[in-house]
Amino acid sequence: MDRRRGLAELPSPFLSERVPKKLFIKTYGCQMNVYDSERMADVLAPLDYALCAAPDEADLVILNTCHIREKATEKVFSELGRLRDRKAARASTDAPMMIAVAGCVAQAEGDEIVARAPYVDMVFGPQTYHRLPELIAQADPSSRPSGGRAATKGAGLVDTDFPSDVKFDHLPAVHGGRRAMAFLSIQEGCDKFCSFCVVPYTRGAEYSRPVAQVLAEARALARDGVREITLLGQNVNAYHGACETGGEWGLGRLLFALAEIEGVARLRYTTSHPRDVDDALIAAHREIPAVMPYLHLPVQSGSDRMLAAMNRKHTAAEYRAIVDRLRAARPDLALSSDFIVGHPAESDQDFAETLRLVRDIGYAQAYSFKYSPRPGTPAAGDEQQVAETVKAERLAGLQQVLNAQQLAFNKSKVGEVLPILFERAGTHPGQLVGRSPFMQAVHCDGPETLIGQIADVEITRGQANSLAGRLVTPAQPEERIVA
Ligand code: 5AD
Ligand code: SF4
Repeated sequence: MDRRRGLAELPSPFLSERVPKKLFIKTYGCQMNVYDSERMADVLAPLDYALCAAPDEADLVILNTCHIREKATEKVFSELGRLRDRKAARASTDAPMMIAVAGCVAQAEGDEIVARAPYVDMVFGPQTYHRLPELIAQADPSSRPSGGRAATKGAGLVDTDFPSDVKFDHLPAVHGGRRAMAFLSIQEGCDKFCSFCVVPYTRGAEYSRPVAQVLAEARALARDGVREITLLGQNVNAYHGACETGGEWGLGRLLFALAEIEGVARLRYTTSHPRDVDDALIAAHREIPAVMPYLHLPVQSGSDRMLAAMNRKHTAAEYRAIVDRLRAARPDLALSSDFIVGHPAESDQDFAETLRLVRDIGYAQAYSFKYSPRPGTPAAGDEQQVAETVKAERLAGLQQVLNAQQLAFNKSKVGEVLPILFERAGTHPGQLVGRSPFMQAVHCDGPETLIGQIADVEITRGQANSLAGRLVTPAQPEERIVA
């Protein structure tokens, strides 16, 4: 059967059934996937799918996958193994389970998934989840000629196009859902082709959502009470959205417009590329108080030789210069980065340069990874692969330095009063959890009425991964001493 045949032409018996169904989505990987999972739930809500807490109860399980490193891919296949047994147990009941694989593993390995896990019903990539209702209608066992009998064998439908119609135009409107913070995807895909990275292949070419669409989504979130918006994109600062009045806006200009929206108190964006940090973006950091003083700006390596091999198209000195300009604009800016150790041909000297850059810049936090060869990427075919033992040793050395910097940064906040946006109740009764402007998790006691609001907290303790503090009660007017 031709699995890619026109999904839109198929009858949709599912649409007329309207029986409440349960949906479980497991999300792997980056924040883009978190956003996509929320949007998949939005797409399925009109079909009476409601989210449930465990895969066992679900009529439809979606694994929204990540392909960035080998480990991430392996996790998906072991989860599929577990789901196979659950699906088999449900096969003879009148409530069969459907299994879908979405996201970047689906995009990269669609046909292999169906071959390796024939019980999977649907495989679809990040660009086609707006077509999910049609795909489900086609895969639903009750709509297939063999009925429920086929429930252990999946429908094996694969939809991994890069369609010319843009999914964002077909998705339902977003809602904030009573959260304090939300993601807003403004850009997708990447044209940079770093030697090690699968993203240009799984997410496709760069695409920026039009300005009006982004502003409308931000307004809807703010109306629902969202105070902090994180703009998402694989290359978010390459944003160049079309403007209704003509021309294109970059990220800097977009941030200025977003900051005007009533209720938007905090803005963040991730993930950036050093090459796309322009004057307008630096101006946004300097002039917009809502743009938080925290930036994830991956450098990957401190060695020019490695940066060239990685096709990053900038040197370590250029990265340092960008950081200097950003810090001149916003002196309290805290920085985060991604690092890869053991990229093909990385020598001890190259690694030493990474350590030197880390020490010079001083990171508030960072992610570091052993290089993992990804099929189809240029670096995977390089003959100068670095031994696993060497990678492990370098990673441990780098993480030691990064962890020490993170702890020092967290401790440096002790005694300061920071505005904290409270997200949720903590694990202890009466405890709240929120975020500092620098993305640190902050725990303190306080009333649940503060959730969704920003309040001042005096930091009393800085730990490896979080801060603790106490609420600063604002002085009553009559208590204020007027000089
Ligand atoms: N191996 C190791 N790390 C990788 N990353 C991307 N591809 C690979 C790979 N093949 C890391 C980069 C990137 C982050 C999201 O994941 O550091 O910035
Ligand atoms: Fe991957 Fe490089 Fe594009 Fe980032 S800039 S998504 S690391 S190819």
